[in-house]
Amino acid sequence: MTALPEELQSALDTALRGFPQPELARAVTRLITRYRQGVAATEPILVSPVDAAAYAGYRMPGTYAAVRAALAEVAGQLPEFAPRSLVDVGGGTGTAVWAAAETWPSLTELSVLEQAPEVVALGRKLMAGSARLRGTSWRRGRIDPAAEAPAADVVTLSYVLGELPEPVRAATVRWLAGSARLLVLIEPGTPAGYERVLRARDELIGLGRSVVAPCPHQRDCPITPGRDWCHFAARLPRLGAHRVIKEGTLNFEDEKFSYVAVANEPAARAANRVLRYPVKRKGLVSLRLCTGADGLAEVTVTKRHGADYRAAREVGWGEQWSPTAD
Ligand SMILES: C[S@@+](CC[C@H](N)C(=O)[O-])C[C@H]1O[C@@H](n2cnc3c(N)ncnc32)[C@H](O)[C@@H]1O
Repeated sequence: MTALPEELQSALDTALRGFPQPELARAVTRLITRYRQGVAATEPILVSPVDAAAYAGYRMPGTYAAVRAALAEVAGQLPEFAPRSLVDVGGGTGTAVWAAAETWPSLTELSVLEQAPEVVALGRKLMAGSARLRGTSWRRGRIDPAAEAPAADVVTLSYVLGELPEPVRAATVRWLAGSARLLVLIEPGTPAGYERVLRARDELIGLGRSVVAPCPHQRDCPITPGRDWCHFAARLPRLGAHRVIKEGTLNFEDEKFSYVAVANEPAARAANRVLRYPVKRKGLVSLRLCTGADGLAEVTVTKRHGADYRAAREVGWGEQWSPTAD
């Protein structure tokens, strides 16, 4: 389970208490309807303080869990990588900054580019109580592939590609790849989100970037389009205002996400990536894998495999899988 950092959770609860509950609920309903349309935004979606608060309350916990999970896999592939600077593009209330700061203690220069002033104001407020993050620089501005590319050790674009008009997406991806040592793109774990990630991945490989995660290879994605999609899940608790906003009975949820991370230098990749929740039965574990060597595979690990069996009982969806024996 990945919960928001305590200081973020408490800042978020405080910020949300500033709005009457019915007003927040109406704003959440409006946003859900808008996001479910799945169409690119021709104008900003989050236009008022209550929109920004509703978005943060409704989406930050899930987005944080997804970004944190993706970055943890990326960091696991790059054990020597100790980035100092990060730019979060279309950063909203700064979710990816929180997740990256948690992933890489070496990060000291943090900045966010975001178009919506109300969102910037809330993001700043949420970071104000954090000694680590309160110095984050917030730049109000629009994604503009004609401008100078954001230069940083890490550039993140989290849940933004889908909001950009189709014709701008490839140019944005090329722009961001321009001067990032590591570029991480995260999208909802839907077929459409995966599709966008896949196109971006093709674009980035075409530019000579090296895929770090999740793919264990640099070839075409072996998943048959229309039949399946590459996505992962991060489990998070529903706490405080988030639980009230979700009006849910469950005290947890699974955030589904798709992502790709590329580096501007050759990177070591996972041997295999686990593509589903492992199926565990008495004495055996079945794994659906994307393999480094040979496309997709269904692998069964039994007690007979000793250490591999014990490891397979622990491995999770989205993690890498390196058996010691075949
Ligand atoms: C779905 S939210 C995601 C926010 C944040 N990245 C996260 O993961 O929580 C999309 C954000 O992208 C911003 N955005 C969309 N198009 C943009 C553009 N052309 N330039 C700058 N920001 C943009 C929106 O204002 C919004 O805050």
